[in-house]
Amino acid sequence: MQLAGKVAVITGSGSGFGEGIAKACAREGAWVVVSDINEEGGHRVTEEISTAGGAASFFKADVSDGGDTQALIEFAQSQYGRFDILVNNAGVGHLRKPMTEVSEDEFDRVFAVNVKGIYHTAKAAVPVMLEQGRGVIVNIASTGAVSPRPGLTWYNASKGAVTTLTKSMAIELAPHHIRVNALNPVAGDTPLLPTFLGEDTPENREAFRASVPLGRLSTPADVAAGVVFLASDAAELITGVCLEIDGGRCI
Ligand SMILES: NC(=O)c1ccc[n+]([C@@H]2O[C@H](COP(=O)([O-])OP(=O)(O)OC[C@H]3O[C@@H](n4cnc5c(N)ncnc54)[C@H](O)[C@@H]3O)[C@@H](O)[C@H]2O)c1
Repeated sequence: MQLAGKVAVITGSGSGFGEGIAKACAREGAWVVVSDINEEGGHRVTEEISTAGGAASFFKADVSDGGDTQALIEFAQSQYGRFDILVNNAGVGHLRKPMTEVSEDEFDRVFAVNVKGIYHTAKAAVPVMLEQGRGVIVNIASTGAVSPRPGLTWYNASKGAVTTLTKSMAIELAPHHIRVNALNPVAGDTPLLPTFLGEDTPENREAFRASVPLGRLSTPADVAAGVVFLASDAAELITGVCLEIDGGRCI
């Protein structure tokens, strides 16, 4: 087991990639705090982990709210008595459309969750990790940060911020033995996918699939495998990396 006895907090883990990450971390022996703004999804994932023999608790938190993220990290510590891994997975998109047609509200929401959410979790988690002299953070960015495509300009920009802040956090925190890495998944068939497709048609799905050299979309299991590796001690010399999980899409 690659994460035995470690405590992992995973934001946005009531669905999609986050659900896969939470379940994989639990299978690898971690005590998992499932966190999401969506209580129903969060409770479901937590119960499914427990039923499968894993250790998990749910804590409702909106990552765009600094009070919520502070309470989330305090919950993890009080629940399990330690805190090792933070996965910043919660994210939202805007509908695929020309950049000038994205409303200010949509723009603000994308940045409040995808970028400021990581600011908030960092403010809560990094002081704890600094005091411990150890910790691992994995941020979920996107291929949109590396190889942006039309119609998702502001979402792509938010993920560009995630890859830059990942490297900046990594260099600032390296002297304290805190590692910070990111994953750049290609499109995956989660509840978020229809947002990226614009119109959810078989043709649009096929166009996405055909853009991936290895011939398929990503899955929560693909993304979770990357998180487990980067969070494990096997990756103890890896920091500041933004790893594509994309079937060659960004080549
Ligand atoms: N699905 C894709 O094609 C794709 C590709 C690349 C990157 N990503 C990124 O992967 C991450 C997970 O996305 P997903 O595809 O699994 O989508 P998803 O919608 O299935 O999951 C996102 C989860 O985040 C939660 N969430 C939304 N706003 C929140 C907030 N303010 N606070 C806490 N939780 C919140 C949602 O309730 C949901 O459970 C996101 O960061 C997304 O940008 C997705």
